[in-house]
Amino acid sequence: MSTLRVGMVGCGSAATGHVYGMAASGQFDIVALAEPSPESLERFRARLPLLGDVPAFSSADEMFQAVDLDAVTVVTPHTLHHPIVMSAIKRGLHVLCEKPLTCEVAHAKEIAEAAEAAGVVVMVRYQRRFDPAYRFMREKIASGELGELRTIAVTCGQRWQRGTAGTWRQDPALSGGGMLMDSGSHLADMLLWLVDRPVESVSALVDQCGSPVDINTSATVRFAGGVHGQLTVIGDLAITWMETVVVSGSDGLLRYEVDPQHPWRTGRVTFSRDNQIVEPLRLQRGPSEHEAWADAIRGEGPNLSPPSAGVRVAELTAAIYRSAREGQTVRLDTDADVALSA
Ligand SMILES: NC(=O)c1ccc[n+]([C@@H]2O[C@H](COP(=O)([O-])OP(=O)(O)OC[C@H]3O[C@@H](n4cnc5c(N)ncnc54)[C@H](O)[C@@H]3O)[C@@H](O)[C@H]2O)c1
Repeated sequence: MSTLRVGMVGCGSAATGHVYGMAASGQFDIVALAEPSPESLERFRARLPLLGDVPAFSSADEMFQAVDLDAVTVVTPHTLHHPIVMSAIKRGLHVLCEKPLTCEVAHAKEIAEAAEAAGVVVMVRYQRRFDPAYRFMREKIASGELGELRTIAVTCGQRWQRGTAGTWRQDPALSGGGMLMDSGSHLADMLLWLVDRPVESVSALVDQCGSPVDINTSATVRFAGGVHGQLTVIGDLAITWMETVVVSGSDGLLRYEVDPQHPWRTGRVTFSRDNQIVEPLRLQRGPSEHEAWADAIRGEGPNLSPPSAGVRVAELTAAIYRSAREGQTVRLDTDADVALSA
């Protein structure tokens, strides 16, 4: 089977993981790079000498005009995702876009509609969807083993405010928001993906802690059927990283925690039922996000992180900001257009 010809838009720090992910899948050839910053490009080539001969362009559109591609990765500051992804879709290219898909709800919906119309696969890089511990939790909830779902609390924290000071991440014109738009986007997606029901209302507090963007966020999310969700995003954490999930149902309890010493590894998940705590001996691995992207492009698998995920996160994020700004609960219309089980 022939490999897919990929152009990479944005060659900063997160782009490196995409190179490794694509290489591990064996499904892609990286044939072009688009990166406006000569310094970023130089660092990228120094980290990845095997890409030394791959031609580079200073914009995505220049690359699209010059090189015959099947697909692109989009790994740029957040507000640039929408125009670049739309331009790629118009050229019939498949896209793996970093989170958040967009910073505006209307932009995410536009991408979802355009991708559908063009028949291309646009995947959002929410890698927790491919993490065996998160998959385990979703399966336990969906199978009914937890009983009736009651509450879910999702928390993530990073030493983000100090770590991102002076970068585009704290410039709203490029980031679209702070820690909630950045790493918080992953946990917003997990909250929505695990519960898999429409959001009815959101009540939130946001603290910018003297920064131009949100640093700490606490949101209470009411889902259809009365499930209570809590999303806590801590951007001024005293340590590097933390991440926990607690899901309570009428018959059981799921707990997940990342080891702060090894934040990039899958955390520890336990399932408690009838007062017994069960830790799965072996978590089942599925495809990686890059393997799943290739499978979806070839029509051999579903899009496991489709644009509708980006729409739902954008809707939740917008509701959180609005609730915090207005000091009141925001009601969301159940959006029948957005497939929940995506
Ligand atoms: N999934 C994850 O776990 C994860 C982790 C880190 C970052 N990210 C995401 O990756 C994206 C990039 O983050 P990063 O940490 O690599 O940032 P970064 O600053 O290290 O890299 C961004 C790169 O984009 C380039 N760029 C700016 N404008 C561009 C344009 N118009 N066209 C092409 N390139 C352009 C910059 O010059 C820079 O090299 C963001 O969406 C971020 O949220 C995701």
